[in-house]
Amino acid sequence: MSNDGVDTSRRRFLITATSAVGAVGAAGVVIPFGLSMNPSARAKAAGAPVEVDISKLETGAMLTVAWRGKPVWVLKRTEQNMKDLPSLDSTVADPHSDVTSQQPEYAHNEHRSRDSRANILVMVGICTHLGCSPTYRPDVAPADLGDEWKGGFFCPCHGSKYDLAGRVFKNVPAPLNMVVPPYKYLSETLVLVGDDKGAA
Ligand code: FES
Repeated sequence: MSNDGVDTSRRRFLITATSAVGAVGAAGVVIPFGLSMNPSARAKAAGAPVEVDISKLETGAMLTVAWRGKPVWVLKRTEQNMKDLPSLDSTVADPHSDVTSQQPEYAHNEHRSRDSRANILVMVGICTHLGCSPTYRPDVAPADLGDEWKGGFFCPCHGSKYDLAGRVFKNVPAPLNMVVPPYKYLSETLVLVGDDKGAA
């Protein structure tokens, strides 16, 4: 543990890579971030955009890819998830994503995603408190998160909570919504993370 009480091992951003272009490991295998990178993966870590094939992404499922050495999540939200977002406005700190540093202009909306595929959330999976990677918790009203929980992300380091648009709840250590990176669609099922030039 470091002085500030953070388990520094959590900062290594252990992620489970699932099927996606630029994935860094086989499905279900948790590996230390960065250790297994081949040369092309290292180029991606340096900043190259990453293509993500979402053709097999099921509703409610999330996959993780590496971009600039960080985990980026791509989540296909359910209809109910989308309906629930407005009901959380009074409990999140920045309901309308007015802090402009946290998302591109096209994600400055309730769902924090491009309108063309509003249910697809693309987000840098890093807590805005001290940089741990939160856990995806889609379960509704679990015992440890309470009756009001409608699915979201829980940071195990100091307990920050985010909804399924990455909006941070009030009264937690994290100060800001999680970051939506620049991204665009190359086709219906191919997302490019890290580049939004020329996109409508
Ligand atoms: S790093 Fe402290 S709550 Fe996430």
